[in-house]
Amino acid sequence: MTEQTLVLIKPDGVARGLVGEVLVRIERKGLKIAALELKHVSEDLAKGHYAEHAEKPFFGSLIDFITSGPVVAAILEGPRAIAAFRQIAGGTDPVEKAVPGSVRGDFALETQENLVHGSDSPESAKREIALWFPEFSA
Ligand code: PPS
Repeated sequence: MTEQTLVLIKPDGVARGLVGEVLVRIERKGLKIAALELKHVSEDLAKGHYAEHAEKPFFGSLIDFITSGPVVAAILEGPRAIAAFRQIAGGTDPVEKAVPGSVRGDFALETQENLVHGSDSPESAKREIALWFPEFSA
């Protein structure tokens, strides 16, 4: 069954010139890019995106980081697209959790500057696609 997921290449990924690297891995896996846009992130969008983490101690720092520069936002489509992109990304902590061969395992060192975001469930994907691409939302 085809699924959609919302992916972000975060400000560190864009600044480090890793957009092409991430997109190559997405396309080689066989996921379809259904939407793709470079976006400047407002504080409102950032707070909406990370709303579930509002009570976490790192929330303020996460908002400052995600609004610190442009991000590339994408909608990916394919069978098990949510899990497939999270496999490409690797675990949240790029050293303790992400395995070599994943984007974070290969290119990141910090839990905050971990290059990419991918929706973690069908409910999150629906909510995040509506936030980032309202024009694509049913
Ligand atoms: S948690 O704490 O289990 O909810 O964390 P997780 O779901 O894995 O991560 C949620 C997002 O918060 C970021 N994160 C952090 N940022 C800064 N400092 C610390 N300690 C930290 N821990 C988690 C993490 O990069 C996740 O971002 P996204 O964009 O969702 O991958």
